[in-house]
Amino acid sequence: MADLKNDLYLRAALSKPVERTPAWMMRQAGRYLPEYRRLRSKAGDFMDLCKNPQLACEVTMQPLERFPLDAAILFSDILTIPDAMDLGLSFKQGAGPHFLKPVRSKSDINNLPIPDPADKLAYVMESVTMIRKSLNNSIPLIGFSGSPWTLATYMVEGSSSKDYRYIKALMYTDPKSLHMLLQKLADSIIAYLNAQVSSGAQALMIFDTWGGVLTPGSFREFSLNYLEKIIDSLTREVDGSKIPITIFTKNAGQWLKMMATTGADCLGVDWTTDLSDARAQVGDKVALQGNMDPAVLYGTDTRIREEVATVLESFGLGSGHVFNLGHGIQQYVNPDKVAVMLEAVREMSPAYHQ
Ligand code: CP3
Repeated sequence: MADLKNDLYLRAALSKPVERTPAWMMRQAGRYLPEYRRLRSKAGDFMDLCKNPQLACEVTMQPLERFPLDAAILFSDILTIPDAMDLGLSFKQGAGPHFLKPVRSKSDINNLPIPDPADKLAYVMESVTMIRKSLNNSIPLIGFSGSPWTLATYMVEGSSSKDYRYIKALMYTDPKSLHMLLQKLADSIIAYLNAQVSSGAQALMIFDTWGGVLTPGSFREFSLNYLEKIIDSLTREVDGSKIPITIFTKNAGQWLKMMATTGADCLGVDWTTDLSDARAQVGDKVALQGNMDPAVLYGTDTRIREEVATVLESFGLGSGHVFNLGHGIQQYVNPDKVAVMLEAVREMSPAYHQ
């Protein structure tokens, strides 16, 4: 922390005092940037881009060259672990991820390897090392992974899903096998995230994008349980600097109180929950990250500034807020609108930290 020029994000995620609210965006390196689209078309397949550390580093840096962001996030995908399990992952243009060999039976699950991060995922570690060099201690680098439940949904469904019929059928017919799958994923994720930290990641985020499709009981049993196990086994400090851990479950506004007891330092919140309600649920146990509706960026500059003000006001006074969107930035957003949002956060947020 000591040699970082800007450590606001690390401090805020650990609920320590800051002079202004730090800001970054989920999917900040992505298709809304013309320079990303150019590089992406040169690289070919999306996974080819992820697997080329030089290009992944270049893409990570793209939004930072345009905007005064307070954190960088590794350019990669949550599906690198299932890809390393040899399930035949591809990204079809416009249709999202697709697995040639979805995981459907007990024997499929038994046969899954736990990938060694130094082997098939070595490209991710090389990217982390290169990005840290490029950042040159300007802002912190966030490493990440999907949660066991969210990775399992893609692996069992075989692609993005609207109804989660295969994984929910597995959950209600053979929960033991699902637990075996989730445990294998948890073990893989622990090794993967700790390797990212060894390679230079200064903070970690776990995306539990699809935890919110569960019932409260099954969320606890099939998602939260494993998040807790993972957090218990992660490296929490390197050279005297704490590694903040953020967990993000979409549509989990009602479950923040139970999420706050996992050992995470910070919870991501989507735009359907008011940050003042979120804060009332979690008290000062954890920091909060979020939560402007990504669609606000289609609005006028004035509306964007108003919504930034609303988000800052809803969190209120004091530390423990990382400004972000409530989910990833959408591909049709005009990048100029991001500058308007970030400028508004810089201008308005110091008043909340006096
Ligand atoms: O935030 C960042 O800037 C870091 C990069 C990042 C990507 N994906 C890049 C990406 C991160 C953190 C992710 C996480 C991810 N990937 C999640 C969890 C976060 C969330 O959005 O809830 C999920 C569910 C995935 C799986 C995934 N990858 C999907 C559903 C898609 C979209 C497919 C489509 O065509 O719309 C991807 C592809 C993907 N991941 C892109 C990017 C920039 C677009 C790929 C392209 O260039 O065509």
